[in-house]
Amino acid sequence: MYEGRQYDATPFLPGRRARLPGMRKAAAGCQGCPLHRDATQTVFGDGRASACVMLIGEQPGDQEDLQGRPFVGPAGTVLMRALGDAGIDPEQTYVPHVVNHFTFTVPEGRKRRIHKAPSLRETTACRPWLVADLRVVAPEVVVALGATAGKALLGPSFRVTEQRGALLPWPDRVGADSGDGVRGLIATIHPSAVPRAEDREPVYRGLVADLRVVAEVIDDRRGTRTT
Ligand code: URA
Ligand code: SF4
Repeated sequence: MYEGRQYDATPFLPGRRARLPGMRKAAAGCQGCPLHRDATQTVFGDGRASACVMLIGEQPGDQEDLQGRPFVGPAGTVLMRALGDAGIDPEQTYVPHVVNHFTFTVPEGRKRRIHKAPSLRETTACRPWLVADLRVVAPEVVVALGATAGKALLGPSFRVTEQRGALLPWPDRVGADSGDGVRGLIATIHPSAVPRAEDREPVYRGLVADLRVVAEVIDDRRGTRTT
């Protein structure tokens, strides 16, 4: 079905007037790239359309694939705690992924599905969903969680270690009218890096420090937006 064809979610997107529920429904049927074949379901973004912070993850993990919601596994536990420590109310956030389907390998002789980083072709295919999310939610601040999200927004030369924790200008490359009202982009590590680290505490503290920068940017606009 995909031989020689470009991967692209565009034909599966609803019209520009669609809001989050309509987009979620349409995304459930997306076949823009082959990742939908082996995954359980589309894991669409979670949160309110009125959110002022958009936290962009990489792709659903094993638990998210099974439950159909972002960040419900171990990475989500870290993220929720870090948001709390940084003073960001999860109710103010909307959390989509760069890629909406779980991509994994099953090592020979094993049953457990192991997360596999999505390819550039797959992230490019899924991009129209992210652009639509940005248009509908129109966040004030966007947070790239980890290298995949950072590269998707800032380009292939993005390095978390070099660019994290600073309020960066919204990159033009993201797409037409996707950045209206966005005050800036802040990159940080992916929360799953914390449990993987040998010395977790400093890694966790680094994540919280980056998220505090986000909290400062929205500080004067605490509470849910009414527009
Ligand atoms: N990693 C992500 O980016 N998102 C999840 O929901 C889980 C792991
Ligand atoms: Fe569509 Fe994205 Fe899933 Fe590919 S990963 S099938 S583009 S929703």
